[in-house]
Amino acid sequence: MKKITIAIDGHSSCGKSTMAKDLARELGYIYIDSGAMYRAVTLYSLRKGFFTPEGIDTQSLQADMPNIHISFRLNPESQRPMTYLNGENVEEAIRTMEVSSRVSPIAALGFVREALVKQQQEMGKAKGIVMDGRDIGTVVFPDAELKIFVTASAEIRARRRYEELKAKGQEAPYEEILANVKERDYIDQNREVSPLRKADDAILLDNSEMSIPEQKQWLMEKYQAVVHG
Ligand code: CDP
Repeated sequence: MKKITIAIDGHSSCGKSTMAKDLARELGYIYIDSGAMYRAVTLYSLRKGFFTPEGIDTQSLQADMPNIHISFRLNPESQRPMTYLNGENVEEAIRTMEVSSRVSPIAALGFVREALVKQQQEMGKAKGIVMDGRDIGTVVFPDAELKIFVTASAEIRARRRYEELKAKGQEAPYEEILANVKERDYIDQNREVSPLRKADDAILLDNSEMSIPEQKQWLMEKYQAVVHG
């Protein structure tokens, strides 16, 4: 069966990564969470003290970009991809509210995007990849054979994120999460470099009222339609 490139973009916390991960596992494809890469750069910046009261110390971050190495390795038990920053497993550390509340300004920096997009394109060279993010169908893989743009209402997304954090013992107030979801939407859609937008040839999926199995089936049908034409 021919291998294709699958780009899944959309708003924050709409379950993109769950669907992308499941699909990749089912097809035997590589899954790359591009958001995890922006989160890893954010974690690195926090640790290095690049967030100052005057704003982000972009000069230091830019100088350090060649020292930031991000990779993914499968957890042998869960078979889930784990994010590594300079050899350290940071999968949990990049999912905190602290990182979530700082990631969008980092992802708005042109030099950060340039470096990460280059790495993402390299990872997708051999096809057989599912990548999720904000600019995958528009910038990273404009020629992807299957593009999906996922959304759901901000309230539903905040509720899902709330449950997800709670399950991990990192409970945060619902109102704070909702504010973060809305703020990131705003920054992601209004930044100058690669703003979040649906590619013209992407298929829209509003999963506000869909269960995970329903969504999985929907996605499988779209995939089948592409490969069997
Ligand atoms: O999991 P969630 O959808 O909340 O976010 P994420 O996919 O982990 O992405 C975190 C942040 O990284 C987003 O809010 C964007 O600001 C940024 N991002 C981006 O700019 N471009 C991408 N391809 C992926 C993420």
